[in-house]
Amino acid sequence: MKGRILVTGGTGYIGSHTVVELQSAGYEVVIVDNLSNSNADVVDNIEKVSGVRPIFEKVDCLDFDGLNNVFAKYKGIKAIIHFAASKAVGESVAKPLLYYRNNLVSLINVLELMPKYGVEGIVFSSSCTVYGQPDVLPVTENAPTKKAESPYGNTKQINEEIIQDTVVSGAPINAILLRYFNPIGAHASALLGELPNGVPQNLIPYLTQTAIGIREVLSVFGNDYNTPDGSCIRDFINVVDLAKAHVIAIDRILEKKQKEKVEVFNIGTGRGLSVLELIDAFERATGVKLNYKIVGRRAGDIEQVWADPTFANEELGWKAVETIEDTLRSAWNWQLKLRERGIQ
Ligand code: NAD
Ligand code: WQD
Repeated sequence: MKGRILVTGGTGYIGSHTVVELQSAGYEVVIVDNLSNSNADVVDNIEKVSGVRPIFEKVDCLDFDGLNNVFAKYKGIKAIIHFAASKAVGESVAKPLLYYRNNLVSLINVLELMPKYGVEGIVFSSSCTVYGQPDVLPVTENAPTKKAESPYGNTKQINEEIIQDTVVSGAPINAILLRYFNPIGAHASALLGELPNGVPQNLIPYLTQTAIGIREVLSVFGNDYNTPDGSCIRDFINVVDLAKAHVIAIDRILEKKQKEKVEVFNIGTGRGLSVLELIDAFERATGVKLNYKIVGRRAGDIEQVWADPTFANEELGWKAVETIEDTLRSAWNWQLKLRERGIQ
């Protein structure tokens, strides 16, 4: 056993895939999740995939005493991956205080408890949303951050600053901030994946729900952008590739390989794909015809963004390897499995 890692938000979409990768790398995982956006049966599915049942505590990261008890109960936690957050952009505009409270106070609680229990490092889930519409593409980690488009995006910028300021203040903490681009797809077993609440706001769950007949038609938001086919461009990163970046980041912290106490990495493929190209790739990869229509632009959308992942490639030795076709097939298989399980 390589050591004990606390994963907040570990029953969520990215968290559950990361727990499996941590386990297969030899780490013991303690999950903390309040199940506000996930289900307890994810723990069973993690066990089915990895053969190891992670420790699970239903605790809210806003509950300082509850979190303290987890550190006290599971001694020797070496590092934390902090996924727990609210993440729906539209909801954050409607309920900004909920987002500021959940995403800021949760992180503050974690950071306050780390030195008390001798926890060496934290890997934090940040987002390409901090770049807004970059002036130069592909975007590197040195690009300036832009005023956030939503309270959600703002929480990611403030979270990054909170971590920086805490480390600068002399707290004995090392941090790696991973700026994810657009995570998509599911585990190859189809036992883990993204389970949106209600009507999906993100492209892939809406697309697979349309393909299976839950939704009638996928609306493509705009074909009049300044891009080759007029639709927006994103860097779609396979969730298992993304999960593996977390294991490398944890190894790096624990093996003391960091060059700075706070390091920032783009986690993307380096390839921009338009929404229309993605639909085409889905149809080719699955053989399923998709019902879609072009509608007007969605407020707040960035026209185009994709990563320059060179720093992560060279410094972490991490690279996205999954093809977009395999990734889209995995998302489709997950949707089919959900129907088989009578969930969606
Ligand atoms: P998710 O909603 O599937 O997972 C988050 C998990 O955190 C959920 O299981 C939820 O129940 C839990 N949670 C929320 N608030 C909590 C709290 N106060 N205490 C305990 N548990 C809590 O989301 P995800 O897509 O897996 O995202 C994980 C992280 O990555 C989030 O911080 C998100 O902002 C960030 N991120 C996600 C994306 C994306 O497109 N999915 C992109 C960039 C960054
Ligand atoms: C992708 C593209 C839409 C739905 C969001 C957050 C970002 C990050 C990732 C966390 C856009 C288009 C979508 C639909 C469509 N999350 N689209 N029809 O907006 O790039 O990023 O998730 O940090 O912060 O903002 O992702 O999946 O919503 O959209 O045409 O029904 O698909 O316009 O161009 P987005 P998305």
